[in-house]
Amino acid sequence: MTAEITSSIGLLTGKAIFVTGASRGIGAAAARLFATEGASVVLGARSTDALDQVVADIRADGGVADAVRVDLADPATIRAAIDRVAELHGRLDGAFNNGAAIQAGPGPLDGTADEDIDEQYQVNFRSHWTAMTAEAALMRRGTGGAIVNTSSIGSRRANPVLPAYGAMKRALNSLTETAAVTWAAEGIRVNGITPGGTATEMMQAWEESTPGIIEQVTAASPLGRMGRPEEVAEVAAWLLSDRASYVNGAIIPVDGGAGA
Ligand SMILES: NC(=O)c1ccc[n+]([C@@H]2O[C@H](COP(=O)([O-])OP(=O)(O)OC[C@H]3O[C@@H](n4cnc5c(N)ncnc54)[C@H](OP(=O)(O)O)[C@@H]3O)[C@@H](O)[C@H]2O)c1
Repeated sequence: MTAEITSSIGLLTGKAIFVTGASRGIGAAAARLFATEGASVVLGARSTDALDQVVADIRADGGVADAVRVDLADPATIRAAIDRVAELHGRLDGAFNNGAAIQAGPGPLDGTADEDIDEQYQVNFRSHWTAMTAEAALMRRGTGGAIVNTSSIGSRRANPVLPAYGAMKRALNSLTETAAVTWAAEGIRVNGITPGGTATEMMQAWEESTPGIIEQVTAASPLGRMGRPEEVAEVAAWLLSDRASYVNGAIIPVDGGAGA
């Protein structure tokens, strides 16, 4: 459960915000935080039971939340989700495009299956293109908005262990910067974040395919621990808020210094 939503003036008060990957991990933490900060949130993912639970928790705390089923591999469901946001709120002020899949089979790159490359392309890259296009169209009906895309520390350097994941996240950084430059004049800011190792199911899944990786990632962090989903969500909340009004086209590390 989140802290009780008592304040009427939060960082995101009055904003309608769409969050993908909201069924667990960073996205669920973000949806809870954004609601606590006064936003009306619409949560997207495939696991509708998990989404409904997060929505119920937010509503129990006095927040405004709804869920929509989205498969990031299917552009039609992404567009339908933004249509649902329009139906619910008639506007979109913020979008946290955060959902992604870990690469099913780890590297090396010359052993990566075509299916893994295709999934990484569809879920971790193309979905953002589709989502941002639909989101920007709805934001234009209002006074603009802010978009935050979740990339990864794994996009910043060579990524021999997750080559397709790293490549799609690097491509996402490029798309984020391009969108920021393209839409700035319309009042739409676009930024990215590159989390480091964060304690979510994604890390557990990676540990299963690459035993010992959690220990390695923890050792690589100057803070000596992985991040918590809430710590990543805080940065997204700020970027989506008006307090970040001059931040555009930035790719901000949230990695405890692991990439420094
Ligand atoms: N955890 C880390 O160490 C770490 C580090 C760097 C970057 N990141 C990035 O942070 C973001 C959030 O990851 P997380 O750690 O919170 O992972 P997570 O706990 O595994 O959550 C991933 C979320 O993405 C959703 N998702 C996955 N495939 C989807 C699909 N095809 N369609 C719709 N939704 C889909 C999942 O929902 P359903 O399964 O219900 O659809 C879930 O809500 C991702 O972009 C990830 O790449 C994470």
